[in-house]
Amino acid sequence: MKIAVFVGSIREGRSGLRIGQWAIEQLEARNDGHTYELVDILEQDLNPNTAIPPRMVENGAYADPKTLAWAELIGGYDAYIFVTPEYNASVPGPMKDAYDLLYAEWTGKPISFIGYGSDAARTAISHWNDIVTRVGMIVTPAQVEFTFQEHFPDFVFTPGESGAAMLANVADELLDAADRVAVEVDA
Ligand SMILES: Cc1cc2nc3c(=O)[nH]c(=O)nc-3n(C[C@H](O)[C@H](O)[C@H](O)COP(=O)(O)O)c2cc1C
Repeated sequence: MKIAVFVGSIREGRSGLRIGQWAIEQLEARNDGHTYELVDILEQDLNPNTAIPPRMVENGAYADPKTLAWAELIGGYDAYIFVTPEYNASVPGPMKDAYDLLYAEWTGKPISFIGYGSDAARTAISHWNDIVTRVGMIVTPAQVEFTFQEHFPDFVFTPGESGAAMLANVADELLDAADRVAVEVDA
């Protein structure tokens, strides 16, 4: 399986990149034969607008070459871990924009979240649940919850054993769900 760790913040000095990199290090250390890759919006060249609603695009035929490249990247993964902050009690705008450019590439795939914030981005993750369910994704139950109080003492990201354990649960559930999807597709 090929799993994307999708970092959703683009701010200068963002915490999201460090958290995404930590997740990749942890996941690769599993040595489980699966591939884990970081997807960073800042490394993508995306147009914010879309000519027609992505749901109506057939066979991945996106008119915009930038969106086409984004679709090919995202469509190549079997499951996703979204690393999401919470901005004003919801999901970060640039991450939602990148998400909304596509449709079929997300549909039917498993997803989980690493949330971080004063309340571990619980409200943002709740909004993400509505968004990704609308697009037909499969939300697995486990998620990683990093609170500033527990996991950012003195503003330093400190995932600790609890962070590693939460991420291990996320990976196990995502891989199981991706296996079930693969079986259904083959059947
Ligand atoms: C525009 C903006 C709105 C924010 N709103 C919230 C919020 O609603 N809840 C929260 O816990 N943190 C909020 N924060 C604080 C962020 O959790 C914190 O800045 C975090 O580091 C953002 O992730 P990033 O560094 O990866 O961008 C907000 C930060 C910004 C920049």
